[in-house]
Amino acid sequence: METFKRLRNIIYEESGIFIPDAKKYLVEKKVASRLEARGLAGFDDYLQAIESGGNAEEMGRLFDAITTNETSFFREPEHFAVLVEHVVPDLLGRNGVKGLSLWSSACSTGEEPYTMAIVLREKNPALRPNIYASDISNQTLESAKRAVYNSYSLRNTQEYYMSKYFKNGGDLYELNQEIKNAVRFMNINLADDRKQKFLPGMMDVIFCRNVLIYFDTQSKRKAVSRLYDSLKPGGYLFIGKSESLHDITRAFKPVIFNNTLVYKRTT
Ligand SMILES: C[S@@+](CC[C@H](N)C(=O)[O-])C[C@H]1O[C@@H](n2cnc3c(N)ncnc32)[C@H](O)[C@@H]1O
Repeated sequence: METFKRLRNIIYEESGIFIPDAKKYLVEKKVASRLEARGLAGFDDYLQAIESGGNAEEMGRLFDAITTNETSFFREPEHFAVLVEHVVPDLLGRNGVKGLSLWSSACSTGEEPYTMAIVLREKNPALRPNIYASDISNQTLESAKRAVYNSYSLRNTQEYYMSKYFKNGGDLYELNQEIKNAVRFMNINLADDRKQKFLPGMMDVIFCRNVLIYFDTQSKRKAVSRLYDSLKPGGYLFIGKSESLHDITRAFKPVIFNNTLVYKRTT
């Protein structure tokens, strides 16, 4: 089989990410950085190294190289408004809720879960939610834990939050320790079939934004079904504004708050 197709298959099997023919050149360019790092002469050698298995570290580096990590604080801000104004009051209004658990399931460099922590802290400092954040890319997770950002990451952030939650030095902005401590990071692959790696039935809210677009229908279905299992009954799933669960699942009840669509697990 042609080298690109073998590489594409491995990436798909391991991460659910489907690379169309049109992106062949882009992906080869990204993977070339791994060849260079490993001192390998060609893609065939690299594929052999990966296909021989037992190479979890290189697989991780391959994910780092090929994933798109675009994000920012307060990206798609209406989701955060709906979270604090509608979803959290609904969840807290239900009987027997002790603490809230939220999960940013493709958190990239941390801007999304930290924005959750900031808006929830602003809404009610006594709330102290459990916020989990995960990604397939170790490189982004390391960067998330450092929590030092440039102004591009903060391009959608109001001055009020910048001065309250960040320490500015030169071109960089360091997130304050309290918000950093509010988020627990881990590596979770949304395409991983081993269920125990997910967080079954524990979550009140899951954000899974701007990652399903890289999956084909089959991997979307699998991932969304496992996200469903990770939610408590009554819990909510947020996906990216340009994404849809049409054709993927009917298990959720679509709910609209302020013209913004979110998905609720009812039972
Ligand atoms: C474009 S970013 C989205 C970040 C954030 N959710 C947002 O909307 O701003 C997509 C992230 O999904 C991650 N990703 C891709 N495939 C994944 C998988 N199979 N499991 C978990 N994360 C994955 C990438 O590493 C990347 O950090």
